[in-house]
Amino acid sequence: MTDPLHLTEELEKIRLENLALREEMDRLREEKKDLESDYLSLFSTLQKYERLVQSTTMLIEMAVDPDQDFNKIIMDTAFELIPEADFGSISIIKDDDWQFVYAVGHNLEALKSIPFKKAYFIDPRNVRSTLFFDSNVFVVQEAGSIQNMPEEIYRRYREAVHPMSESAIVQIDLANNIAGHLSLDIGMQEDKHFSKESLKVMEALGSITSAFFAFQRLSKLQEEFQREIILSIIRIVEIHDTYTKGHSEHVASISLDLAKEMGLSAEVCKQVYWSGLVHDIGKILISQSVLNKPDRLSDSEFEIIKNHPVWGYEVLCHSKELREIAIFVRHHHERYDGKGYPDRLQGENIPMISRILTVADSWDAMIRDRAYRKGLSREVTIDEINRNAGLQFDPVVVEAFKRLCDKGIL
Ligand SMILES: [Fe+2]
Repeated sequence: MTDPLHLTEELEKIRLENLALREEMDRLREEKKDLESDYLSLFSTLQKYERLVQSTTMLIEMAVDPDQDFNKIIMDTAFELIPEADFGSISIIKDDDWQFVYAVGHNLEALKSIPFKKAYFIDPRNVRSTLFFDSNVFVVQEAGSIQNMPEEIYRRYREAVHPMSESAIVQIDLANNIAGHLSLDIGMQEDKHFSKESLKVMEALGSITSAFFAFQRLSKLQEEFQREIILSIIRIVEIHDTYTKGHSEHVASISLDLAKEMGLSAEVCKQVYWSGLVHDIGKILISQSVLNKPDRLSDSEFEIIKNHPVWGYEVLCHSKELREIAIFVRHHHERYDGKGYPDRLQGENIPMISRILTVADSWDAMIRDRAYRKGLSREVTIDEINRNAGLQFDPVVVEAFKRLCDKGIL
């Protein structure tokens, strides 16, 4: 027979083992839960980083497409990835001013109308309630109550922003200087805080924004440099052809006004402007005796003059940057009715930009005083352009031209 004492001991041992096993099972179950939640949070982080990479790609594309609103994209991304945020804003420092350029929730129009100075700019590093997170992300309690501005300005500022309990602010840096802020805010009544993960995302968004600003500044500088070089060449053309002094810049600016009036995209408007600046560049190859001749040109001289769009086109085709607009220069003397030169293109076959240049070029040529004659009056010039709609000019461009005249822009 089995010893009952021994049995009891055995049973107790099994019970304890069972208990240990159950504890182990519970522990494993908890661990599984933790692992699952870790996995989920990792997955969500991964998704967020994927989204950030997408934003960066978009940023690169945007650098060449000025029609896209970078501020909106970066804010949309921020709100998508940082669920705690209720409101947000982007502000920049420009010379001595501090300007709000984008806002969600806050009253952007009101913020834009307040004459903030650089001196009022709130540097989160100097704010007492700042909780440091990392090198350039700050969490500030009640950012709206931070006083760094004259009373009247502060009153208007408080009216323009929603009350905030907490703000995550990231600096936008440009060439080692603070160029602005990207701020996400939690509303006053809300009982929540920015998570560590959200602040990490914020840091990445700050870097993207800084990179975009730097890129934008660089391309602006590059564009300015190109413009200066082209203007210098234009001035040489103007010395060569005294009749056209200031003409190229006028044509560029009138063409730009026309393009904007026609609702063309920012990218096309830019091309219109550059084409206007260089449209007569081919004249540099025409002898001064022909260009500056005060009397009527002979037929053969006029034939020489008529080469300038093609010469301009050929010169520009050699430039990598200006090749795209060469074709618009080639066709700036075509007529809508097909009787122009050099290729006798007709109607819509003439590139739109060339059709715009033709109107701007004719307007400026007619209205300006020349050495040998006074320019036509504004009324006569307007009348002349209207009469030639559908003949020399595209009627659609003439319509835009008329609207500019009505608005007093021309
Ligand atoms: Fe011309």
